[in-house]
Amino acid sequence: MAQLILTGFMGTGKTEVGRRLARATQRAFVDTDNLVEGAAGRSVAEIFATEGEAHFRALEREAVRQAVAVPDAVVATGGGALLDADSRRLLLSAGPVVCLTATPEEILRRVGAADDRPLLRGLTPAERLAKIREILAAREPSYQLATHRIDTTGRSIDDLVGEIRSLVGAE
Ligand code: S3P
Repeated sequence: MAQLILTGFMGTGKTEVGRRLARATQRAFVDTDNLVEGAAGRSVAEIFATEGEAHFRALEREAVRQAVAVPDAVVATGGGALLDADSRRLLLSAGPVVCLTATPEEILRRVGAADDRPLLRGLTPAERLAKIREILAAREPSYQLATHRIDTTGRSIDDLVGEIRSLVGAE
């Protein structure tokens, strides 16, 4: 198998599941948000605040390019990576793309009160929930392009790692 890609909305566990899956299968783990932050020398939140989302997507595209070049890596993307046509093409041709999902309420619970998610910044919990629902609906067509889809609501990381391994045949 080539790369294994984990995507899905923020708070669906891409990074935690990806890290654990990589360790269990002795693969490299690459997180595209980390690559963006390393290259830019700033946090994703700062990039959004100063240069905006379009600039972030361009940096993310480059990070995706680098990530899919790492042999056999488990790659966790940011929640919006599949929205960009170039990133999407690179990811879908790199290997199985597993989209992690969760209910809007679970996503809200997992992202917590921290104001570090640019798309939910400065909103009350009720507004956040509405925003999560709105973005999920808008992104559904992109998320549907993933090769597999797993609802993570109420499930443990180990359970999810096991399911992904059997789903994609990861040794
Ligand atoms: C984004 C999700 C974030 C990060 C950026 C944009 C999105 O990643 O890439 O803030 O558009 O959903 P996480 O999904 O890891 O939070």
